[in-house]
Amino acid sequence: MNPARVVARVPFGRAPLMIDAFYKLAKPLLFRCDAETTHRLMLAFLAAWPISTAPAAPPELKTRVFGLDFANPVGLAAGMDKDAIAVGAWQSLGFGFAELGTVTPRAQPGNPRPRVWRLPERGALINRLGFPSDGANTVARRIEQLRSRKLGLRLGINIGPNKDTPAEKVALDYAALVGALGRLSDFVVINLSSPNTPGLRAWQSPQRLRELHGALADASAPAPPPPFLIKLSPDIDAAELGPICDAVVQLGFAGIVATNTTLARAEVGVASNHEGGLSGRPLCERARATIRSIRRQVGDRVPIIGVGGIASAEDAYGHIRAGASLVELYTGLVYEGPAVVESINAGLAALLRRDGFRSISEAVGTAA
Ligand SMILES: Cc1cc2nc3c(=O)[nH]c(=O)nc-3n(C[C@H](O)[C@H](O)[C@H](O)COP(=O)(O)O)c2cc1C
Repeated sequence: MNPARVVARVPFGRAPLMIDAFYKLAKPLLFRCDAETTHRLMLAFLAAWPISTAPAAPPELKTRVFGLDFANPVGLAAGMDKDAIAVGAWQSLGFGFAELGTVTPRAQPGNPRPRVWRLPERGALINRLGFPSDGANTVARRIEQLRSRKLGLRLGINIGPNKDTPAEKVALDYAALVGALGRLSDFVVINLSSPNTPGLRAWQSPQRLRELHGALADASAPAPPPPFLIKLSPDIDAAELGPICDAVVQLGFAGIVATNTTLARAEVGVASNHEGGLSGRPLCERARATIRSIRRQVGDRVPIIGVGGIASAEDAYGHIRAGASLVELYTGLVYEGPAVVESINAGLAALLRRDGFRSISEAVGTAA
């Protein structure tokens, strides 16, 4: 019997169980609505959840990454809570951190609906949301209110440009976002890899990274700059990934988030005509291969947040052994339900023990 699966059934606290029970009960009904309507209903429910104490994670999961302490390495991926409305629930579910956003400078509606589809038999989603956002000022106000409360989880903020921003002004959008949100975040993720904002992925180049770095450097003054991470796509050519990673190291970015959704279909065994980024189970191997390539290139000089297709402790552990210091999930939460967070944490602790690691950091990159 796999120890991760046994321990994964042991709950830490009651809040996640209650949210999970509600989700499991409502799921057949929720899954009859289109994916975005379900998402909105769930967020409205979770937004009403009070900020309660986080369930205690196994102590060996405590970890320190880019100078910050995390109670556990499992985070909420960007896109689930774009406008920072349900942070209390993320803490109650046992996440060690939440990456909010993508936030754009000005509020914008995103692409026309429908723009999110489920592929339930594959445990996958396809989305072409195109950054619907309440805008930086509104999100900043919400986070300011949260900061006056007791938060046990770390908050990252993922930022991206407005759709109508001309290419030559994109760096200014990022700088404006850092000005508005940088002081409120534990770390900032520069999203250069959404496939749904035309031209954005072209910023994944050493030259553009240099340009961006220059624009970001002064943007958070007089407050000290937060750690800046770069979020990359799983679709970058092997030949291009090396120079991008080298630039990230040379410029002193604090980390890399790998990966965003993929435009691949047949290569990951999916047949679908919906346009947009694919996430979930079919992405897992492709994301892990990208994490492994990045780790081989940067070693332990730049920590990686591994994301893509995680739905179990084994998936999370695989990303960690490939080189991720922290992990995140989105689609796995949709299909497995809220208790998956505690189950991943409990399972990770069991897998570490099984393999003789005393901490997450000891396991990072051991299968790179
Ligand atoms: C509906 C949806 C919306 C997303 N929105 C964003 C976003 O706004 N910014 C971003 O960086 N990533 C976004 N993502 C990508 C996720 O953060 C994550 O990188 C990707 O889905 C892979 O993880 P997963 O397989 O656990 O879902 C979104 C994903 C989904 C499914």
